[in-house]
Amino acid sequence: MQPDEKMMARLKPGCICQGIKLISLLEALEDGAESFEDVVRICGIGKGDCGGIRCRQKVEELLAKRVAAKNIP
Ligand code: FES
Repeated sequence: MQPDEKMMARLKPGCICQGIKLISLLEALEDGAESFEDVVRICGIGKGDCGGIRCRQKVEELLAKRVAAKNIP
């Protein structure tokens, strides 16, 4: 992750209902999370008012981007 991306991720919400920043989700993925459930276990999202609906979509988009980036030759 580039320094600029990291700085922005510290400001953007990852789980708005629990006040967890996007950086926590990204760090969970960097630390080896491979599913929404892994990210929940590592950083605690998914237990707020959205019941995992909003944040699951965000995590799945991040996982898809990671897969796409790995498949670029
Ligand atoms: S965005 Fe907070 S639990 Fe899903």
